[in-house]
Amino acid sequence: QNAWKLADHPKLPKGKTIAMVVLDGWGEARPDEYNCIHVADTPTMDSFKTTAPEKWRLIKAHGSAVGLPSEDDMGNSEVGHNALGAGRIFAQGAKLVDSALASGKIYGGEGFKYIKQSFDNGTLHLIGLLSDGGVHSRLDQLQLLLKGAAEQGAKRIRVHFLTDGRDVLDGSSVGFVETLEKDMSNLREKGVDAQIASGGGRMYVTMDRYENDWNVVKRGWDAQVLGEAPYKFRSAVEAVKKLREEPKANDQYLPPFVIVDESGNPVGPIKDGDAVVTFNFRADRMTMLAKALEYADFDKFDRVRVPKIYYAGMLQYDGELKLPSQYLVSPPEIERTSGEYLVHNGVRTFACRTLGYLRSETVKFGHVTFFWNGNRSGCFNEKMEEYVEIPSDVGITFNVQPKMKALEIAEKARDAILSGKFDQIRVNLPNGDMVGHTGDIEATVVACKVADEAVKVLRFAVDCGRVACVFPRTIIDAIEQVGGIYVITADHGNAEDMVKRDKSGEPQLDKSGKLQILTSHTLKPVPIAIGGPGLKAGTRFRNDVPTGGLANVAATVMNLHGFIAPDDYEPTLIEVVDN
Ligand code: 3PG
Ligand code: CO
Repeated sequence: QNAWKLADHPKLPKGKTIAMVVLDGWGEARPDEYNCIHVADTPTMDSFKTTAPEKWRLIKAHGSAVGLPSEDDMGNSEVGHNALGAGRIFAQGAKLVDSALASGKIYGGEGFKYIKQSFDNGTLHLIGLLSDGGVHSRLDQLQLLLKGAAEQGAKRIRVHFLTDGRDVLDGSSVGFVETLEKDMSNLREKGVDAQIASGGGRMYVTMDRYENDWNVVKRGWDAQVLGEAPYKFRSAVEAVKKLREEPKANDQYLPPFVIVDESGNPVGPIKDGDAVVTFNFRADRMTMLAKALEYADFDKFDRVRVPKIYYAGMLQYDGELKLPSQYLVSPPEIERTSGEYLVHNGVRTFACRTLGYLRSETVKFGHVTFFWNGNRSGCFNEKMEEYVEIPSDVGITFNVQPKMKALEIAEKARDAILSGKFDQIRVNLPNGDMVGHTGDIEATVVACKVADEAVKVLRFAVDCGRVACVFPRTIIDAIEQVGGIYVITADHGNAEDMVKRDKSGEPQLDKSGKLQILTSHTLKPVPIAIGGPGLKAGTRFRNDVPTGGLANVAATVMNLHGFIAPDDYEPTLIEVVDN
């Protein structure tokens, strides 16, 4: 118990209500017409920068600052929220898989031994996202795994891929499938019966998250396991090219298809005795499929046929659920997160209050819970935490509804702040990211405006008789009312840059002279702002942590709760100067 006790901060008091707001996909970039945050009317976020520059700064949100292999790796919500919540930088899935493959250790592990049992009589199926985006998976890792599995004795291999267009440019799927086809044919030359068996777009097939829409997983199941899909092709390259010809088709939303042999039979349904590896390292969009593949009791959709398989994840996706039970690479061990510390210290310090939290709508819900808490589902202490979820609209792309549920999230947060039951109210506002991923610039501008409004709406007076009443409408309005503190930041960039650029930063046109729309995240830093009436006078950002990143936020927030962070946390970003 004592190991959890945090020292008191010498200058900052306890008991302040803190709103911790994460604007998803909100980076800082050059202000031009493709920067939707710049184009949008965002008076609140602008005001932090201009009116209190000592309480506003930029922090790193990509590459090594969030545990990714290289500085060319853009940030993402998993590693971003991990860093925000854990206060330290952990080597992330991408990096751990790289080293396990490079050293060959992956082939000596329990997980690989487990799937190897299928190699004599069964087929090895690999399911995952096919791109070099590096957010959920990487093509080069798949290639190494294919080669390694063949060397280890896999005789029959089937790949079921999901096309990307979200972490990489739309249309790039064709090139990735061509590369994979070549790899398959190289394997065949070496005597391995290797083929692509099925495919579909990641947002329409398989890769749903947080149980938003099980139909997405079912579409994948039907193609991958049952060998059934609305489209049948003899070749995967042909499939992707043809399906992309449909009006409005894009990589993210390609319909499911199966590859068939000359008699029209699917070449790779999953059968008894086969092995399956889901080769994404990132958890959120593989967890639902992992449940369908692993759980005997399962009622989310009719699986029709449940093959007895040897299933392993590239990583274990959920440490709490131990899902899947077999995996090729051990996940980062993200322990002693700030949420867990705060729960332990809250018991002592705020015994009559509840340490509370967190809301975002379904499509982002797990970011401020699961990822924040080090890839752990559920609360640390149910008596002290409340996780509220606002259901997302299902089955739409968010450019048609760029407001999403931002104002509902903000209102829930406001009510939680005003209730006095919580010390920390943590929210994720998904608009900049979710709409940014659609590549629709106009809609993303609206998304940014709405996210800004969710942070704060200028107070409006309502005539209630003789006295003009003032209602707090959203998060900062409520913080002002209760004398609290706000911390506003982001997990990675997205909406601030919507085009691919050349080295000098100018938009880079494609061969036909067209702009290349960037649906992905970016390498940009993100802002962080602190303030509110509860912030002790003299509190400001230090200038001796110029390279600060997302992992420095946890110690900062612990300070604002009146504590000093554990020694191994990345240093706080703030200092309190006496005036
Ligand atoms: C996704 O899964 O939607 C994208 O690949 C990454 O977006 P996120 O990191 O913002 O969730
Ligand atoms: Co995103």
